[in-house]
Formats: sequence, C-alpha cells, structure tokens
Amino acid sequence: MSDTGSGNKMWGGRFSSGPDAIMEAINASIDFDAKLYAQDIAGSKAHAQMLASQEIISASDAEAILHGLDTILSEIEAGSFKFSAGLEDIHMNIEARLGELIGPAAGRLHTARSRNDQVALDFKLWVKSAAQEAATLLEKLMQVFLNKAEKHAGDVMPGFTHLQTAQPVTFGHHCLAYVEMFARDRSRFIDAIERMDECPLGAAALAGTGFAIDRDMTANELGFREPTRNSLDSVSDRDFALEFLAATAICATHLSRLAEEIVIWSTPQFNFVVLSDKFSTGSSIMPQKRNPDAAELVRAKTGRINGALLALLTVMKGLPLTYSKDMQEDKEPVFDAAQNIELAILAMTGMVADMKVNTGEMAKAADAGFSIATDLADWLVRETGIPFREAHHITGRAVALAEQKNCGLEELSLEDLKSVSDRIDTSVFDVLSVEKSVASRTSFGGTAPKNVAEQVKYWRKRLKQ
Ligand code: ARG
Repeated sequence: MSDTGSGNKMWGGRFSSGPDAIMEAINASIDFDAKLYAQDIAGSKAHAQMLASQEIISASDAEAILHGLDTILSEIEAGSFKFSAGLEDIHMNIEARLGELIGPAAGRLHTARSRNDQVALDFKLWVKSAAQEAATLLEKLMQVFLNKAEKHAGDVMPGFTHLQTAQPVTFGHHCLAYVEMFARDRSRFIDAIERMDECPLGAAALAGTGFAIDRDMTANELGFREPTRNSLDSVSDRDFALEFLAATAICATHLSRLAEEIVIWSTPQFNFVVLSDKFSTGSSIMPQKRNPDAAELVRAKTGRINGALLALLTVMKGLPLTYSKDMQEDKEPVFDAAQNIELAILAMTGMVADMKVNTGEMAKAADAGFSIATDLADWLVRETGIPFREAHHITGRAVALAEQKNCGLEELSLEDLKSVSDRIDTSVFDVLSVEKSVASRTSFGGTAPKNVAEQVKYWRKRLKQ
C-alpha cells in the first residue's frame, strides 16, 4: 500500500504526506454524497449572501462566489463536473472547483462555517424534501383507495381473523382501512418535517462563531422556520434522519401487509383480484402464470428499509457529542430507504388503481365458512334476551348441524333451527344473509355500506384541506 504522495489541498497544511490509498477509500464519501450537490450549492449561496450583507466578505467576492457556484451547478447537471475521491466529499469537491473558477475569493466562502454545519444542513434539506415527496405520494395512494372504496362500498367479502373467515365486511371498508394507515404514515412524515424545520447552518464546527453572522437570514433564505438554538446539538443531531427512517419503516410495513393481501387475493384459489398486465409478470416455463412480482417486491423492500433504520440507530448509539466521522455513514441507508419507499408507494398506487376486483368471487367467499354465525348469536341476544355466552353456544350447535347437512346457516329449516333452540322463530331469516349482516353494522367505524360512503366523503374533504 502506498500513499498518494500529495496532501489534501483543503486541509493538508500540517501534513507532510497524503493519505494511504486505503485511508482515502474508507474516508471518501463522494461516491454517495454527490447526491447532495444541489443542497450544498444552495447552502453556500445563502451563506455567501449573508456574509456579504453582514460585511464579513466584500460584495464583489460574494458576487464572484455566487456566479462560480451557479457555474458548478450547471457543470454537475450537465455531467461535465469531475468528482475526485481525493477531495473526499461533495463539500470539498465543490469548494475546490470554485477555487479553480474564481481564484482566491473562493477561500472566503468557508468563513464562519465548517463542514460539520454544512453537512448537517445539506442532509437535512435533502431529508426534508424526501419526507415531503413521500407524503405527497401517499396522498395519491389514498386517493386511489378512496375511489375503490366508493365503487365497492356495498360489495361484500369475507373479513378475516387468523386468515380464517370471520364476519362479512364490505370491500370498500377494507380499502378504507388502508386509507387510515396511509393517512397516519403521511402525518408521520409531516410531523417529522415540522420538527426538522430548524436550520443548523452557522453552528460552525461545534461552538458557533465570533463573526457577526445572521442566522435568521440564512434560515429564512433556505426555507426553514428558524435557526437551531444550540450549536453543539446542531452538528450532532441526526434525529431528523432517524425519524424519517422510522416513518419510512412503518409505512413500508403497512405496504408489505397490503402487498401480502394482494399476493393472496390474486392466487387462482382466492381469485378476489386480477392484476393488470401492466403489473403482472409471466413465467418463462409455465405459460398459465401471472405472477404478482411487484407486490412481492414491495413486501420484500420492507427488509432493507427496516434495516436502514436499524443501521442508523446503531451508528448514532453511544456517539459522544459532537460530530464524529461515524456520522458520515448516515447517508447511504437514508438514500436507499427514500428511493425504495417512493418506488414501493408508486408501485402500489399503480397496482391498486389498475387491478380488477372480482366482486362475484368475493361475495361467494363471504357466504362460505358460516361468516354470519355472529349475526345469529346477536339475533338471539336481541330478540330473546338470552345472554351472549349462551347464544354463542346455541349458534355453535347450529353451525355443527349445518356442517353435518353440508349447507349454510340460512339454508337450515326452521325446524332444524328450533332443534338447537326453541326460542328461534321465522323472523331469524331476516338477519341471515351476508348483505343484511354488513348493512346492520352501522356502529361508528363499522363496515356498513352507508358508513363506507360517509367515510369516503370525510376523507375527500380532509384531503382537500
Ligand atoms: N463527509 C463528511 C460527512 O458526511 C462531512 C463532514 C466532515 N467533517 C469533519 N469534521 N471531518 O459527515
């Protein structure tokens, strides 16, 4: 292993030799933090403007800096910018290029600033916009579910517990369950944005600065509510990234449950939904297959997203204040999780919007498995005053009898029903159907078609606000 023979031009003043090649390889972050170029340039421009307005640098130096930064931005966007691992990270790559473009004035940009507050700023800006993007995409997914809920407000399906048929529900109600989940996910991203809305720029290395900077000006220019209040915390804090990852992990977990349901529903055995050609794949050997690959991948992405949260929690755990180079490891998990949650939400939005719902198959399945047994027990309680526990027992005997006769509860004769309880009369047939069952469940939050229609209206209004 040999060293590179040249010191780092940004901080190499006291070094007589450059870093070992392995040192450079482990130290450099440019391969992944180049993603922060736009945030870095925006931060530097705000800083330079503030330095000039506080008369810490001259107006003409500031102008040269701003002009140079704009040139760099277009070079990066055009793909002509040469990134160098020797310059470690995005901050020093940009500053070095600025020196080439405008000469010594470039050296004034880093007055009253450090890479510690610079990276905290860049990363926070990036995470803020990723959280906003996730929230926006979730809103679109909610809209898709609201459309489905409205269309299928009255269509019955079996509701499950333990993946065993439990009670009939409406498919609209099932769709609205996901609206609730994604609404909470969305609000978690928005809450996180609220807390991260403090600008760390100006904390400098860790202790603040003796220069008369105006932190309100930079915070305002960069779209933050206010500057952070403690310089030590400003350069140490990565809560904002952790919160983003936590919100992402919970959201991914919800998406994985939906993905699993779609996988189950689209089997020929269930046949509740048919995914569109756009969201299915074929098999190279079995021509009959339509595989729900996108759903499976959404389900699987939860693994790496949960992993990202655990990775960053573990990096941050036990770190003394303030900045440690450990914190450079904050970015890759966040970039990966952000990219994959966006992909997962978009894939689900497309899949659900395009899928065909087999209401006939759902209704057939809702009828099977004695799903209306609870309705019989409830009838006994309501109409005869028998305590629920006893009614449960009587209904159990009716189910056993129907099983023996290989028919549904509603197909038992009055005589059969009377054999399990002589309190039963012909009016019991008024409640023994899946449609009547769901229509009766009008308690707030219940599955009745009427409730579904009301909830769709509620969410449409709330999303407009
Ligand atoms: N590349 C570094 C990171 O991502 C920038 C901050 C470096 N600060 C330092 N004191 N070495 O964390």
